[in-house]
Amino acid sequence: MRIDIISIAPNLLESPFNHSIIKRAKDKGLIEIIIHDLRIYGLGNYKQIDDTQYGGGAGMVMMIEPIANCIKKLQLERDYDEIIYMTPDAKTLNQGTANTLSLKKNILILTGHYKGVDQRVRDKYITKEISIGDYVLTGGELAAAVLVDAVVRLIPGVIGDEQSALTDSFQDHLLSPPVYTRPSEFDGMKVPDILLTGNFPKIEDWRSEQAHKRTKEIRPDLLDETS
Ligand code: ADE
Repeated sequence: MRIDIISIAPNLLESPFNHSIIKRAKDKGLIEIIIHDLRIYGLGNYKQIDDTQYGGGAGMVMMIEPIANCIKKLQLERDYDEIIYMTPDAKTLNQGTANTLSLKKNILILTGHYKGVDQRVRDKYITKEISIGDYVLTGGELAAAVLVDAVVRLIPGVIGDEQSALTDSFQDHLLSPPVYTRPSEFDGMKVPDILLTGNFPKIEDWRSEQAHKRTKEIRPDLLDETS
């Protein structure tokens, strides 16, 4: 998979993509992540990328021309399966969206700043808009890093134990059951007996029960979801 990201703060994305699992996925050739500095496409001597909003109001708006020029250049080089705009005023990212995106070949992500981008960018170029939650970040870069992490770890070969990605929280609209490792007792707190029996069908039943219990307590809304 190839992921292109358009940003006015490319430095913000350096660290998340150069460590741990994402770095290994890049080293293994499973993904390619290319960051494009929008400022290069800015207008005039000052490389302007934003302006005041029509109709008045506080906050600057990212202009269409620099973004259009950047997107058009990239589109000449390849077709994109999705052109995604990270913005708080969109549907919230969930595991289903991450699963779907993990099957794509080329994704382009636009990150916003200030008051956001001129609506015409969204109307003309964006095929999908994603929020990572009901709060406002200073820019879309951290949101893009969250999205990329959630997607990349689902690509076969990226995490060693593929079973582990499939049994994550949310894959079946349930939170994960509790997990334990050695020692079997710490400060009088014991690991549930069932996990020490080696009876794997029974252990699976227990995990499923615990997952339902946890979901009902903490995120009952997930149990109502059908997709
Ligand atoms: N940009 C600013 N806040 C955001 C959010 N919550 N999700 C996605 N992009 C954003």
